[in-house]
Amino acid sequence: MLEIIHNDHRNINQLLRILRKKIKLLEEDEKIDYRLIKAIITYLRNYADKYHHPMEDLIYAYYLKYRVVPDAIAIRLSKEHKLIKEVTIELDELVEMVLLDAIVPKQLCLEKLSVFVELQAAHLMYEESQILPAIRESLSADDWANLEQQWQHNHYEDPLFGDNIGEEYKALAERINQG
Ligand SMILES: [Fe+2]
Ligand SMILES: [Fe+2]
Repeated sequence: MLEIIHNDHRNINQLLRILRKKIKLLEEDEKIDYRLIKAIITYLRNYADKYHHPMEDLIYAYYLKYRVVPDAIAIRLSKEHKLIKEVTIELDELVEMVLLDAIVPKQLCLEKLSVFVELQAAHLMYEESQILPAIRESLSADDWANLEQQWQHNHYEDPLFGDNIGEEYKALAERINQG
């Protein structure tokens, strides 16, 4: 399970890298392909919010329940997952408007995109540098067996980074392969 989480983080980081490049282009007044941004957000809403965060939530809840962990950590984690979800939905709605040719100030897009990327990146960093190492150290093989049993979604296939790429993600997958 930890491997899945780490792997998701690597994938999400790749998506954030693409978004950062888009932000830079926008700042330089270049045109960008919003459909690619839409695909990234769709992936994050459908995969990260539905599988990645719930898997983390399950592991974190277990960790918080059976180990002595400061309250602040529990609060921060659940707050961040909630906030990320909200910000993702907001950004999705904005990009949707752009794709429908509504007039959306470039500055607003830039701002929302930047906030989104920074929030995701900081959250990833926090988990990778502090939470996951502490969990790896503290949970035993029995704990992991227990968690595996509790996890109900284990047959979900990743539609972007998995073996079968979904139709809506083909262009994005190609973009990722370009590095
Ligand atoms: Fe997370
Ligand atoms: Fe995460």
